[in-house]
Amino acid sequence: MTDTTQPLQKTTTKQTKSKKRIAEHGEVFTAEREVNAMLDLVKFQSEQIASTFLEPACGNGNFLVEILSRKLTTALAKSQINKSQKSPKYAQFYYEKNAIHAISSIYGIELLADNCAECRSRLLDLFQAHYQSYFKQINPLVIKTAQFLLSKNIVNGNALTLKDLNDKPILFSEWKFISDTLIQRRDYIYENLVEKTDNQLSDNQGFIPKNIQDYPPIHYLKLSEQ
Ligand SMILES: C[S@@+](CC[C@H](N)C(=O)[O-])C[C@H]1O[C@@H](n2cnc3c(N)ncnc32)[C@H](O)[C@@H]1O
Repeated sequence: MTDTTQPLQKTTTKQTKSKKRIAEHGEVFTAEREVNAMLDLVKFQSEQIASTFLEPACGNGNFLVEILSRKLTTALAKSQINKSQKSPKYAQFYYEKNAIHAISSIYGIELLADNCAECRSRLLDLFQAHYQSYFKQINPLVIKTAQFLLSKNIVNGNALTLKDLNDKPILFSEWKFISDTLIQRRDYIYENLVEKTDNQLSDNQGFIPKNIQDYPPIHYLKLSEQ
């Protein structure tokens, strides 16, 4: 277990890739300084492990990477088992659960396949680097679970038509921890989350979207088998 007081270096990327992509897709990525300034407007939420973020045109992940970084800082702080500021000790069991909880609540949609892949891989690289910088013996199943969650939560699709690239409705899963180890997956059609169709349960209950599938609770490290 090591203490690293310096924040992890996050990968930064160029703001544009080509004139063609700017013209066709409005692809200009947001610089780190603006990302941080905007996230500071919702500072409290951006630092909560469980707060949900969805970015409908997430590009290669500039906002989502910073959100994950903030959430992981909280995940680590919450797993501290002594009170020392100079030599903090962290419980790996709680860090792993908190870090998975953090990554499970980050969602994105991106039209271009290369951006989508880059976004997933930047998030996974950050997750792994953070985990490895505090714990010597990392559990490969934790990384596998993070990778699985990113494959579901970061969707290669069209945020305007609400469809994926195969023209199927975009699905999002809610990952709810119901104990320290058990997670319950619940799938929703994205359209039902953003458009008021027939998905209101009753007038006085407000806007409660219908889910399309519930899965039995499972140990979070077995999620990818479900
Ligand atoms: C202005 S860039 C912003 C990227 C990122 N949000 C950022 O701030 O760095 C817009 C992104 O939206 C993507 N995009 C354009 N139309 C889209 C659509 N209909 N659905 C999803 N993504 C789209 C582009 O490929 C591009 O990556």
